[in-house]
Amino acid sequence: MATVPRQHITQQKIAEHVQRLGELYPPIPLDSVDRTIKRPSLVAKRFGHVIDYLARVELEVDRNVLELLILLPEVDETNKTFYADVWQPQEIQHGLILDRLQQDLGRTAAKPQLEVSFGIKILGALAHLRPIQDIAKLMYFLTGASTERQAVLAYNKINKGIQELGETAISETIITPIKQQEPALRLLPDVGNCDDPGQGDQAVAALPDQGDAGEVLPHGRHEPDEAIPG
Ligand SMILES: [Fe+2]
Repeated sequence: MATVPRQHITQQKIAEHVQRLGELYPPIPLDSVDRTIKRPSLVAKRFGHVIDYLARVELEVDRNVLELLILLPEVDETNKTFYADVWQPQEIQHGLILDRLQQDLGRTAAKPQLEVSFGIKILGALAHLRPIQDIAKLMYFLTGASTERQAVLAYNKINKGIQELGETAISETIITPIKQQEPALRLLPDVGNCDDPGQGDQAVAALPDQGDAGEVLPHGRHEPDEAIPG
């Protein structure tokens, strides 16, 4: 059976990939959205609470970035560039678009939780200790792996429901473009190939041809049973 040659991953390649992610997946422009809604009350009834939840999660990336800055004080420039200059602007735009959609549906604006918790601040005070920082980083990557995947599943499911309602503008100019950006952000799938094994786990973006494996990013803490309509 043919084997796929392993890519030799270096810090330089990771940095270039992060830069490429920023260029390939810029924030979705607000004016690219077609705000046509055929039956706003029906969409609000069926999916209003889900859209509100998704908007909040996306907007809470602002808090996630603050948490990362607190928990990872010695993070390298590539990671910092990624989550502050690529990931955060993209996710916030998702939140703004979804929040405007729910207001177009007649709902009130989302109220994201942007305050960093006391527990994170305490942990941040200890984060100059390398083991604490390493564990914090690992936890963020693990929760990121789970939540990014859940986000894609949630967007797939709501998109199907929106399409069944015939709301093509919402599906094609809001949910689909957002959904397509979620899996664009991936962890390098095989950190064992990194030149410096101690640095490989710092990757927060993947080479684009690696399939679905290794979606690992810090992200808002989705609660999937709330996010996915039944
Ligand atoms: Fe997003």
